[in-house]
Amino acid sequence: MGIDKRKNDHIYLASSDLSQVGTALFEEVVLIHNALPEIDFSDIDLSTNFLGAPVKAPFGIGAMTGGTELAGKINAELAKAAEEFGIPMYVGSQRIALVKPEVRWTFEVVKQNAPSIPKIANLGAPQLAQLSEKQLVDWVVQAVDMIDAYAVAVHLNAAQEVVQPEGEPSFRGVLEKLKIVKRAAGRPLIVKEVGNGISKEVAAKLAEVADAIDVGGLGGTSFVAIEGARAADAWLQRRVAETFKYWGIPTAASICEVKSVYRGFVIASGGIRSGLDGARALALGAHFFTMSQPLLKATLEGRLREEIEAVITEVKITMFLTGVRRPQELAQVPRVYGPRLRAWLEQRGTTC
Ligand code: FNR
Repeated sequence: MGIDKRKNDHIYLASSDLSQVGTALFEEVVLIHNALPEIDFSDIDLSTNFLGAPVKAPFGIGAMTGGTELAGKINAELAKAAEEFGIPMYVGSQRIALVKPEVRWTFEVVKQNAPSIPKIANLGAPQLAQLSEKQLVDWVVQAVDMIDAYAVAVHLNAAQEVVQPEGEPSFRGVLEKLKIVKRAAGRPLIVKEVGNGISKEVAAKLAEVADAIDVGGLGGTSFVAIEGARAADAWLQRRVAETFKYWGIPTAASICEVKSVYRGFVIASGGIRSGLDGARALALGAHFFTMSQPLLKATLEGRLREEIEAVITEVKITMFLTGVRRPQELAQVPRVYGPRLRAWLEQRGTTC
């Protein structure tokens, strides 16, 4: 099956409900209402930094796409909005443009439309495992240059690779290769999941190399479900995708796990569906959050700016109702955790 078809299938399937699986457990994070906030709504200031770069909100556009005509159009729309709102943006995996230079433009539109915001390059762990050191350095340099990247993200997508009909479930040697990526990039390295979450054991291993961990937890877009839907003629992939659809660490639990062992920058993603969810992620200790699927859907429906505006307003309302002026103060607000999250934290010997 052609890679163009796969990329467009991902876009269409991700924007439908069948791609949304499980719970991120944000409903188990109840921030306590403050009836006496002692601030004005206009006192709230969302500006913060993203790995050292000044940005207007603790919120950005998650990694999604590139490589086809449709993906190029989506990237251009996302980039324009990111520039207007002063928020960072990841691109999707750039492998396609490294093997097919004629589609580089579908990523280059991001630097053209968003010259001033932090842009994040993207490569996948399976490619790292397969490339020689020389090829890898070349790919990293090209990926950075293609979008004038501020940081480089490497995605860990073991569950997707193992259920995908044309998947490459080869992860041997990835940790060592991450060190090469970091040296070659000369920029912050973000290691991210794509919807199955990062545990504290993995975070501890990544601590020596990653400047940031993006938890990419369970509860939003599921690539296992998407690959299952794509595998119409492949009965075994369809079957295993159904079995492993709910596999993973819910995003709220993953943030707590990562925070318990990792001192670097923590990005929350996976199933964040409102500014309230985003504020809950910050309350759990994340420095930043991103959304992917809701922004893709909004782009396809021609209401991307409204969606971003709504998320930003919801973060501000949560801050007003908990009496905090700056996003980082959310980590101190009183809260109650529901029984599933409490049980998770207790059994994992983690506090949050
Ligand atoms: C993704 N995601 C993703 N991640 C990545 O690192 N490289 C990629 O190429 C892609 N591709 C991709 C395509 C589409 C259409 C979607 C919706 C998502 C995963 C994404 O960055 C994120 O981790 C998950 O989507 C979880 O976030 P949401 O969608 O639940 O907010």
